[in-house]
Amino acid sequence: MDTIGIGLIGTGFMGKCHALAYRAVKAVFGDVPTPRLEVLCDIPGEAARRHANQFGFARAVSDWRVVMADPTVDVVSITTPNKLHREMALAAISAGKHVYCEKPLALTLHDAEEMAAAAESALPDVRTIVGYNYLKNPALLHAKALIDTGAIGRVIHFRGACDEDYMANPALPWSWRCLANEAGLGALGDLGCHLVSVAMHLAGPIASLSADMGTVHGDRPKPDGLARGPVENEDWATALLRFANGIGGVITTSRVVWGRKGRLAWEVHGDAGMIAFDQERMNELQVFEAGPAPTKTAARHGFKTILTGPAHPPYGQFTPAPGHGLSFNDQKTIEVAAFLRAVRDGRNPYPNFADAIRIERVIHAIATSARLGGVRVDL
Ligand SMILES: NC(=O)c1ccc[n+]([C@@H]2O[C@H](COP(=O)([O-])OP(=O)(O)OC[C@H]3O[C@@H](n4cnc5c(N)ncnc54)[C@H](O)[C@@H]3O)[C@@H](O)[C@H]2O)c1
Repeated sequence: MDTIGIGLIGTGFMGKCHALAYRAVKAVFGDVPTPRLEVLCDIPGEAARRHANQFGFARAVSDWRVVMADPTVDVVSITTPNKLHREMALAAISAGKHVYCEKPLALTLHDAEEMAAAAESALPDVRTIVGYNYLKNPALLHAKALIDTGAIGRVIHFRGACDEDYMANPALPWSWRCLANEAGLGALGDLGCHLVSVAMHLAGPIASLSADMGTVHGDRPKPDGLARGPVENEDWATALLRFANGIGGVITTSRVVWGRKGRLAWEVHGDAGMIAFDQERMNELQVFEAGPAPTKTAARHGFKTILTGPAHPPYGQFTPAPGHGLSFNDQKTIEVAAFLRAVRDGRNPYPNFADAIRIERVIHAIATSARLGGVRVDL
């Protein structure tokens, strides 16, 4: 399989990220099938045509069902709002297309489970991947390698925060993002799911949790400025975790904390050291190795900063220069490379729909626990 036909739905934030990744992936990695940019879908049709020209797609359509019926399309990228993922993904799977879907899978756990079941029953003809792109950062991959090789000893605790301030302003107008049947979960679906994906990658499956959540700005001005609309989903959530391997953890997420732009900060503590990271400085790891019991060296005890470079694959595919830094979009290119190789080789990429449902059961369990006043929920 030398080439793979791409159909992309949506041209917003993520649509452009997918398009850029498809265009870059062959030049960056070489050993991947060449994406053929066949058809771009958006509404209205004028937006689809304009972006098809800009992104380099051969054709533009405004009806997403046309993408599913197109025989030149092998992979469908779904970058539309959450409420459309389920119907589009199920249609793509039943048309025999491989599916690259943005997170979260769906508005409700029920719908997400349906999507995961459909993907499972379509194997091996259909492969899936979900846009948990932070798992592709070479810094995170190196942290995992450090943990697995015992650099910080036995892992004893996980702590994390995923925060942005895109709804911090109480005067921000009410929108579909505030509605449960349009957006699903709030901060948990937008942000918290990314943190859960990292927590599970670094510390393993989560066995149980208890949680709290809240809405800081309970209503917002309607765009007409006359009425106010209710905010039905959470602005923030915090959970105490117990991992299957027995260790504890705590995670928190918010969309209303000023100053945080793309914070995905975590610490993995071991009995012989710790690793800390923040996506706002995505090319750095902070590593503390306790070493022998400090005596004369205690005054020099401290963290070291590891700047990512070619020693941290696949960084070197982008540039031979350490410390020069990769970007958010480069993570998407790594994600696309993983998917194209998986499609070519008939393998499951990570995280596919089955992996994503394990992540998303956790965010829905957090919401359930919080609604029930913090009761423990077993996963
Ligand atoms: N992986 C990440 O880091 C990340 C970051 C941001 C958003 N997301 C996810 O990506 C998805 C999209 O978010 P976004 O920020 O790109 O949104 P966006 O609003 O910027 O883009 C959505 C696009 O979908 C198009 N669209 C809407 N209805 C359509 C229809 N019926 N047919 C065809 N096109 C249609 C819109 O016109 C727009 O181009 C969401 O699920 C979101 O959670 C993921």
